[in-house]
Amino acid sequence: MRQMLKAFVIVSFFATSCGNGGDLPSRVTFTEHVAPVLYNNCTICHRPGGSAHFSLVSYEDAHKYGDANAYVTRQRIMPPWPADPHYSEFVGQRVLSEHDIALLEKWVKDGMLRGPADKLPLEPAYPVGSDIGTPDMRIAIQPYTLAGESPDKFLLVKVPFELPSDTFASLVEFIPGHHNIVHHVNGDMVKYAEGKKADVFAGERIVDMAADTATLLEAYKKLSLPNDDGSYPVLQKSVVNYLPGVFGQRYPDGIGGYRLTRKGAFLLNDLHYGFNNGAAVTDSSYINIFFSPVPPDRPVKEFQLGTIGVSKVEPDMMIQPNAVKRVWSRYTVPFDISILTVNPHMHLLGQSFKGYALAPGGDTIRLISIPRWDFNWQYFYTFKKMVKVPKGSTIVAEGVYDNTKQNLNNPFSPPRLVTDQNGSMKATDEMFQFIITYLPYRDGDEQISLERK
Ligand code: HEC
Repeated sequence: MRQMLKAFVIVSFFATSCGNGGDLPSRVTFTEHVAPVLYNNCTICHRPGGSAHFSLVSYEDAHKYGDANAYVTRQRIMPPWPADPHYSEFVGQRVLSEHDIALLEKWVKDGMLRGPADKLPLEPAYPVGSDIGTPDMRIAIQPYTLAGESPDKFLLVKVPFELPSDTFASLVEFIPGHHNIVHHVNGDMVKYAEGKKADVFAGERIVDMAADTATLLEAYKKLSLPNDDGSYPVLQKSVVNYLPGVFGQRYPDGIGGYRLTRKGAFLLNDLHYGFNNGAAVTDSSYINIFFSPVPPDRPVKEFQLGTIGVSKVEPDMMIQPNAVKRVWSRYTVPFDISILTVNPHMHLLGQSFKGYALAPGGDTIRLISIPRWDFNWQYFYTFKKMVKVPKGSTIVAEGVYDNTKQNLNNPFSPPRLVTDQNGSMKATDEMFQFIITYLPYRDGDEQISLERK
């Protein structure tokens, strides 16, 4: 039924856009109409050396993928932006207009014409070395060689540093060496108190969790993370993250940012290299740090609903084979908060996700809706302006899992019982989490723009 409804909506959209086709040029060409759409929305990833494995820069490239482009844009699979832009809006969202989609379709129908050469727009200037500016400091990550024909790798990586003194930073940015093999990164920061660690550079830099079959604690010891007396230093979560096509987020002065202790390390929990079906390749990724003159007066705080979070998953995370299961989690906020970002998290059985808050007065505050879950694109979505959620509101996260064989991402055939194993990160176990970063509310927060400067 849902599928039929979706098909109907798509068809009726299409009918409307054809109905007022007066908007569309009588002859759609590459140089005049298609290249601007591709350069504005696609070539940041689809270019030589980009994160996608094929380019859409030249006429020949676009011609080769003409049908596919029309299809994936109409289905809103590309550009990858799983959140429904009609439900809520975020910084940096890449969403094509109906007009752009209709242009890509009509181009195919018109025979994929090249168009006048002098109309071809300049290819955009892609960021080099940093996505947002000139960093104050750069730290190389120990290069890693991915063997030819090797499966996905999930590495635990330590990136130590020593500074002249404690330093404030507004942003820590991860830049992949090879865009097309670095899949994603999620990393924290280790902060050593003065006198607790003599040599931050001791120990190994990289542990391959799968190959070394180490427990997390053993891996931490290999990396020499503990203080010299064996106790553990402070870990600040989610300081450095990377997903293709997503730029680092620098908040207005005083909001967010970090205090880097004189001695410290970044700990990439999850440096994920995609499977490599080519020859061996060595990746030299690095970390950029942007200093800040002001201390993080309002540090960003975080909580999460669901699996290992502040509120339990209801009714439970037993996802029976051949079933579609709905779960939810609710958390009532004890004081006014200003939400900066939301990050829905599920694994391969995810089908849809919705997050919203019910205010004490009865209003619904929309946070995010993902009508069609996509495991590959799990962003931290940043609101254009902070969203106030007043004390006593209940934040609700709802998820639907599809454990039938119709789910093409189902890791098991035939389907099996899947559970959350108390927070296992393995993609074949499930998770249900709604991660929220926020500040304690201050007057006027709703007015502060978080758009990139
Ligand atoms: C954020 C990066 C990103 C952006 C932006 C992006 N793509 Fe993609 N695209 C990918 C990745 C990654 C894949 C997966 C295949 C691969 O690794 O190349 C993909 C796959 C595709 C595919 C193949 C789908 C299939 O069936 O395998 C098409 C066609 C495509 N993109 C077209 C587009 C078009 C057209 C746009 C712009 C309107 C666009 N993409 C924007 C990253 C991106």
